[in-house]
Amino acid sequence: MSDATTMPVTLTVNGTEHRIEVEPRVTLLDALREVLGLTGTKKGCDRGECGACTVHADGRRINACMTLAVMAEGTAITTIEGLAPHPAQQAFIDNDGFQCGYCTPGQLMSAAACVAEGHTGSDAEIREWMSGNICRCGAYAQIVAAVRQTARAAEGGAQGATSSATSSATSSATSSATSSATSSATSSATSSATSSATSGATSGAARGATPHAALGGPGAGREVGLDA
Ligand code: FES
Ligand code: FES
Repeated sequence: MSDATTMPVTLTVNGTEHRIEVEPRVTLLDALREVLGLTGTKKGCDRGECGACTVHADGRRINACMTLAVMAEGTAITTIEGLAPHPAQQAFIDNDGFQCGYCTPGQLMSAAACVAEGHTGSDAEIREWMSGNICRCGAYAQIVAAVRQTARAAEGGAQGATSSATSSATSSATSSATSSATSSATSSATSSATSSATSGATSGAARGATPHAALGGPGAGREVGLDA
């Protein structure tokens, strides 16, 4: 129930809709932590300088401390609690991408977005596009390595999809050729069987060779910039 100082806000966080009452001055960060109990998103500077509070709004990374809760209505918010499972998490573990871990939720949210945006062409590019996230422990070299590993994992997934399409095409062509050849050979001459087999192989390969686009790989959301 609203009183004179609060207003109703509906926040969609990690796929769940929450109807809450907050004062208009309450930030998204405080609403997530204090009202919804999602304390994975950290408060560092509380003034847009450290990136500890990074969350995704409709897939774009933002600083939750610089966003009012009322501004987030109608936006799909993803917090660190909703990110898992993500290859960036294993990559941070593999590369010791943290020490105290306080900045890590924000680093992970930013890393996931950085890879999805395709800003991983070089270590320098990763550093540039991760520069909104400060690490007081100075784990930067390991964080860059973790983002690099995450990008490789995403590329591997895309290549896996292509390889699967190729394999499917080969299998389809072989199967089609065999079936057509057998059928034609039974009812007609050997030359007819050969001709049908060739034709079947070609059309089978054409059907199965269509590659499936990999979702969420590098390059997706490239136009998205860093948060303010
Ligand atoms: S808490 Fe530092 S940028 Fe939000
Ligand atoms: S791991 Fe301690 S602040 Fe980054």
